[in-house]
Amino acid sequence: MLRVENVSTFYGEIRALNLVSLTVAPGEIVTLIGANGAGKTTLLNTICGMLKARHGAIYFEDKPISDLGPEAIVGLGVSHVPERRQVFATMSVLDNLLLGAYQRRDPQIGQDIAQAFELFPILKQRQKQAAGTLSGGEQQMLAIARGLMSRPKLLMLDEPSVGLAPLLVCEILEIVADLRRRGTTILLIEQNARAALKVADRGYVLENGHIVLSGTAQELTADEGVQKAYLGKGNRLQLARCRADVERYVCLDDPAVNSCALCPNRNGGNS
Ligand SMILES: Nc1ncnc2c1ncn2[C@@H]1O[C@H](COP(=O)(O)OP(=O)(O)OP(=O)(O)O)[C@@H](O)[C@H]1O
Ligand SMILES: [Mg+2]
Repeated sequence: MLRVENVSTFYGEIRALNLVSLTVAPGEIVTLIGANGAGKTTLLNTICGMLKARHGAIYFEDKPISDLGPEAIVGLGVSHVPERRQVFATMSVLDNLLLGAYQRRDPQIGQDIAQAFELFPILKQRQKQAAGTLSGGEQQMLAIARGLMSRPKLLMLDEPSVGLAPLLVCEILEIVADLRRRGTTILLIEQNARAALKVADRGYVLENGHIVLSGTAQELTADEGVQKAYLGKGNRLQLARCRADVERYVCLDDPAVNSCALCPNRNGGNS
């Protein structure tokens, strides 16, 4: 579905991406892991047309998109949820969602708003409220919901869990898994590698603008270098453990679980 071939992107004379190649197949969740400054955001911005690659080529469904602008790329079915949940703070939740559909002229926009509210019930409750008054997690949900309003085939998420409480990290990643079940292909950037590898099929590791490793989520999780660099103690912080069973991670183990009698935060819990 997406093919990035030998892409190099520069800021002036500084090379932020160096001959990066990756692919995403239809129906996959692919994650891109890397430290601060590795070039993750630069790669997404290059794919979505906000930055131009100096070398290399990008194809979406076999069409070259490297020379297209952001609007044309959205029109082809690629949606980008940028870093730091950039919602329009003074606009209402509903207007933010409508803005996500600005390129569409079909009559199904209302239906998709209803679907967004079904996916994120809190947004329905808050639909008339200014987006800037939402909590961090709610703003992230709004940013994702807005990204979905263009009916993308490929959704690219730039650190959707950053700054969120552990349980919300779980919730956002469950939503990612759910979106895939509903047919959206996903390219997910995460600093929380452990959490990302739980939901992803495959992943790439980006260091200083180079892809240094790629493999299935299982292979990457088992890789000693990945464990040392990205799955160490510091990276565990954001993970939520099931309060009833300290060895289990809440819901991340099985994204299909919607309710759990053990979990006070899900249907079935009493406390
Ligand atoms: N607008 C810019 N001008 C100049 N250099 C930039 C610009 N944006 C990013 N860079 C540099 O490009 C490199 C890659 O940055 P990028 O934002 O893509 O990293 P990242 O992997 O997304 O990091 P983070 O995890 O902190 O979001 C960094 O060295 C960064 O300093
Ligand atoms: Mg970034």
